[in-house]
Amino acid sequence: MVKRMVDLELLAKSAPTICRKRDGRLVVVSNRVPLASSAAEPLAGGLAVAMKAVLTRRGGLWFGWSGRTSEEGSSEPKSRTFGSLTYAVCDLSRRDAEQYYCGFANRTLWPICHYRLDLADLSECNAAAYFRVNEQFARRLHKMLRQDDIIWVHDYHLIPLARFLRQMGCAHRIGFFLHIPWPGPEVASALPFYQRLLRSFGAYDVVGFQTQADADNFRDCIVSANAGLTVGGACCSCVGRWLRTGASPIGIDTDAFGQIARAAERTDAFKRALTHLNNGYVIIGVDRLDYTKGLKHRVRAFATFLDRSSEGTRRRITMLQITPKSRSDVPEYQRMQRELAEEVGRINGKFGDVDWTPLHYINRPMSPAALAGLYRMSRIGLVTPLRDGMNLVAKEYVAAQEPDNPGVLVLSQFAGAAHELKGALIINPYDIEATADALARAFVMPLDERKHRWHAMMAVLRANSVHDWASRFLEALATDVKRKSSDPPVAESSSSNAIDVVRPEPSPVARRARSALPRASSQRRSTNGAAQPLSKAPRRTPPLRPKNGSTIAAEALLQSAD
Ligand code: F6P
Repeated sequence: MVKRMVDLELLAKSAPTICRKRDGRLVVVSNRVPLASSAAEPLAGGLAVAMKAVLTRRGGLWFGWSGRTSEEGSSEPKSRTFGSLTYAVCDLSRRDAEQYYCGFANRTLWPICHYRLDLADLSECNAAAYFRVNEQFARRLHKMLRQDDIIWVHDYHLIPLARFLRQMGCAHRIGFFLHIPWPGPEVASALPFYQRLLRSFGAYDVVGFQTQADADNFRDCIVSANAGLTVGGACCSCVGRWLRTGASPIGIDTDAFGQIARAAERTDAFKRALTHLNNGYVIIGVDRLDYTKGLKHRVRAFATFLDRSSEGTRRRITMLQITPKSRSDVPEYQRMQRELAEEVGRINGKFGDVDWTPLHYINRPMSPAALAGLYRMSRIGLVTPLRDGMNLVAKEYVAAQEPDNPGVLVLSQFAGAAHELKGALIINPYDIEATADALARAFVMPLDERKHRWHAMMAVLRANSVHDWASRFLEALATDVKRKSSDPPVAESSSSNAIDVVRPEPSPVARRARSALPRASSQRRSTNGAAQPLSKAPRRTPPLRPKNGSTIAAEALLQSAD
């Protein structure tokens, strides 16, 4: 009862006031830190590429897992500095790598966040390891922090990190960005320790998502789990703290990538590839080997397209699928690797000839320069994930195109990028026939239409580069939703089991208000469907006229506190 009163007070008195902090050192935390031995070494995943671009420009500290395992793990991080950027990495013990990384992160959170409940492993032992490793990371990072650091945590591996840092006394600004989708409560609530995980978000100052739909889903989860209330739309109170949430789609280094692609065109490797690959009548796909990427559906759509084409047309076309292996210790990935290789073999066996291989399937990573050249020469970029937070390959394909003769992007409606790249041919990746239709349409698309679509997509990419994205997020992080000094402090226990204890239960008034609503989630979407940007200042006071379910609930609380 006492706790409930404190939370009512907080909500009533902490009507947001804006306070801009001075810039400090940027500390980026991600599960995997690509401490590459040479600058030319390919980076694993969009997150690594994006953060490398941001940190190379801004400088700072990049902390996380080295990607290596040893019997015991490492007790202290190893540091290396290149110019203004310092990397600090820890090894994981074999058990932690198995239970935290292969286990809870990639066999539980990953499938559930990608709507694959059928593939989720619900082991509580792995879940416990996830919290344990997060606490270990927090302990190591805490020792390295300076007073004016701004901490930016990335992705699903590290959701509870800030909660542990707070328990260690860390009062820094801490932001979190989720690179993958966040599902609504019907799906997310299947997660083991769902309540604990959800409440862990409450230790952040800003939580960013790739799309408005993900941000809306998150707020629905918070409200429906009684973990907090949303006010206004961009702010929500989660376990007694103000937290700013919203959509902030990640971008790429658009101009730099375009330059790399132009430079690649002049290399011998590019010219050789062009000769081997039908002079550019190429459909290119580039993805980590992952069941979320829709690779089996994709190669079947290519086979359907070949099936429908005349012998003459067919032999002029090649598909190039570059798919570095990923998470090979996870059983679902091993199964998928086998199935995909078999499918590729079937297609090449059926359609191929001594002088023509329809589908080139490559399992090793390539440098950004090699990829940029291949994107530039390819007539079609085929990006068809079954579910994807953003998909930066789609953006890189567009940025790499030749303005006078651009290729066509065929893009899944379930990729976050589809919310921005409206100039693509948007397809449902489950619909094999429709994807094959889109391939046929892309091949015969007139130059004018290709240019028109490409210009529209480039305008989006230029308006939101990875540097704009980082600036926007860090601006939001530096802009406090500040409580008044008369506000009571937020209770936090130092015990690592205490996360669930700090749980503000909504008052009976709020519960009644909420139960009077048909369904919070259906009312919570922004009325015009527009994204609510992170950097938008929150309203000082909630609106008096109810606009959506969660606002009503917050107002009921506020009124009851008066
Ligand atoms: O984008 C999702 C993500 O898990 C990133 O966090 C990561 O950098 C990338 O995919 C590669 O994944 P992994 O580190 O498991 O190989």
